[in-house]
Amino acid sequence: DKNDRESLYFAFDLISQFYHYLIKNEKFGNLGLTYLLNRGFTKEIIQKFNIGYAVDSWDTLTHFLQRRKIDLALMEKVGILSKRQFDHKYFDRFRNRIMFPIANHRGKVVSFAGRVLTDEKPKYINTPESEIFHKGNLLFGFHLARQEIKRTNQVILFEGYLDVIKAHQCGVTNCVASMGTSLTETQASLLTRHAETIIICYDSDDAGIEASFRAAAILGKEQHIIKIAKVPNGLDPDDYMTKFGGEKFSSDVIGASQTVMSFKMNYFRRGRDLNDEGDRMRYVEEVIKEIATLTKAVERDHYLRMLSDEFSISLDALKHQQYQIYRQRQ
Ligand code: UTP
Ligand code: MN
Ligand code: MN
Ligand code: MN
Ligand code: MN
Repeated sequence: DKNDRESLYFAFDLISQFYHYLIKNEKFGNLGLTYLLNRGFTKEIIQKFNIGYAVDSWDTLTHFLQRRKIDLALMEKVGILSKRQFDHKYFDRFRNRIMFPIANHRGKVVSFAGRVLTDEKPKYINTPESEIFHKGNLLFGFHLARQEIKRTNQVILFEGYLDVIKAHQCGVTNCVASMGTSLTETQASLLTRHAETIIICYDSDDAGIEASFRAAAILGKEQHIIKIAKVPNGLDPDDYMTKFGGEKFSSDVIGASQTVMSFKMNYFRRGRDLNDEGDRMRYVEEVIKEIATLTKAVERDHYLRMLSDEFSISLDALKHQQYQIYRQRQ
């Protein structure tokens, strides 16, 4: 109920301040701060996103919450604390992790993600869904991006927290993150309600590319411009901006983004030798199938013509083959 929600907002805000205090504290926060500075994050951006550090201890946060008279059972329920089996004592769930507060669209902290400082798995642990946190309804960074999304009528969709945070540091602020999971209908409509152009910029590994196709399919149901931007050399956007900066990211990555179909046409070429007749035919078939999924006749015609020009196949033949695909589907 409303009281529960208010106490959760209160507690999450308090906790985010505590973790943030710790990362700024020389004695307690050095490991966390050094980790972020080594990855190219500045103190200013740590401040802006209120990033924190959970020290390597079983009870630092527990004691703090106790002193502040926060309901520990509630804190266990929302995944901030854990409870020991044998004596039912509460202890800190996040230990030796960088703490990212996740704010809702009004800027209130509703969840935390804690990242390990090493390559250990799991990389992140998160607080679960709760009264105030529905992961699928939320886009990370939205409250900080809203104005710039409106101004540019364009939004960049990243995978990760750190992509959004590094982008802000580099002056690119019309961006949000889907937080790794596949894009939900709610997140999609949030994006399409606020901008005409949506640029999907996921990690350039296979998982990221597959995920961008799924996201594009969900976004593409409405009349919007959906594009895909590919970060080169298997880097993720954060790595790229650390290396090359925000201007180059805007011009070379975002500037080179392609419509979903053009992107797919390039992607299907991977590992094929288009001088080889068999490969070429399989490629053409794959693309025709993809074009057949487009709902607008004008678009289908446009891409079929591109294919026809490139491979000197008559438009009639391509259309005929597409017709057969439709028949097979019925
Ligand atoms: P990535 O594995 O690409 O992480 O997951 P990242 O954001 O680039 O982080 P760094 O640079 O390795 O530190 C993308 C997003 O997927 C979610 C997080 O939202 C993450 O930002 N994720 C990933 C999880 O929730 N849990 C995980 O264990 C991994
Ligand atoms: Mn709700
Ligand atoms: Mn990834
Ligand atoms: Mn990543
Ligand atoms: Mn990364």
